[in-house]
Amino acid sequence: AVKMILDCDTGVDDAMAIMYAALHPDVELLAATTVWGNVEVPLATRNTLRVLDLVGRGDVPVAEGAAGPIAGGPAEYAYDVHGRDGQGGAADHEPVRAAAPVGAAQQIVDLVRAHPGEVWIVPVGPLTNIAAALAIAPELPGLVAGVSLMGGAALAPGNVTPVAEANIWHDAEAAAAVFRAPWRIVMAGLDVTMKILITEEHRARLAAAGEAGRYLARILEHYGEFYRERAFGTWACAMHDTVAVAAAAGALDVRLAPVVHVEVDTSGGPGHGQTIADLRGVYRGYPEQAGAHCSVLLDVDGRIADEAVELIVAHGAPR
Ligand code: BDR
Ligand code: CA
Repeated sequence: AVKMILDCDTGVDDAMAIMYAALHPDVELLAATTVWGNVEVPLATRNTLRVLDLVGRGDVPVAEGAAGPIAGGPAEYAYDVHGRDGQGGAADHEPVRAAAPVGAAQQIVDLVRAHPGEVWIVPVGPLTNIAAALAIAPELPGLVAGVSLMGGAALAPGNVTPVAEANIWHDAEAAAAVFRAPWRIVMAGLDVTMKILITEEHRARLAAAGEAGRYLARILEHYGEFYRERAFGTWACAMHDTVAVAAAAGALDVRLAPVVHVEVDTSGGPGHGQTIADLRGVYRGYPEQAGAHCSVLLDVDGRIADEAVELIVAHGAPR
């Protein structure tokens, strides 16, 4: 099984990614770490604890992390997408346990050091905790299996500005540090995550399933309405964060993704937060770029949405 740390700003699609990682037979979820982003970090922590409990994974430690961007400055949230509670207004609970006594960045460093060469870090929120972990342990890139992140847009438009995706835009300085560090990165950006959709049919399957599935069906409602208005014209949800988990879990073929240089714009200008991927090699079949270490997903198998839904539906189903 793939050892994984999931770093999330638990909103709606993060909740699904947590369920998927917690239930996937090929994933050993070592910890979840939380970060500001979709909502304030204490809310992200609370949602993460609750979602893990729903899938019977109260054993997975949850470590709380950064409350705002690494360089300071205001934290901006995404209540319009994820609801004020980060769960589409449908958070129904108090978690039954507390977060771990260690901070997220230190938790990441400790776990990676304990399992050298084995851990995939899967960030699906702003990259503040990951940059903080790098600051604590600059040797981290040589110790991980890789970083599989949801963030950025290589060829697709942005979703916060014309060119910037939310997770990168929220903390572009942190993202720049993460993309600069010499580890293997798999980037699941809007190029792929806007194409993998949870549909009405998926939601009906979840709504008829066990407690976790029903919870997910409820929190997805508002999120799908947001995407109806802003993107698809019909109720549907971009799966986003689960794609990064699936890539690390080996559930997606990442071999076809070009390995290219990616730089994050921190100019403060109109390009701020853009992931500038050097895809000029498209005309030559992407020849090797010296020193490049980021696999940019441009196409993935859409059946991953069905698989993720079925994994969650199967949980709690009578055997
Ligand atoms: C990303 O931003 C957040 O709103 C989602 O959870 C996802 O991680 C998509 O741009
Ligand atoms: Ca997220």
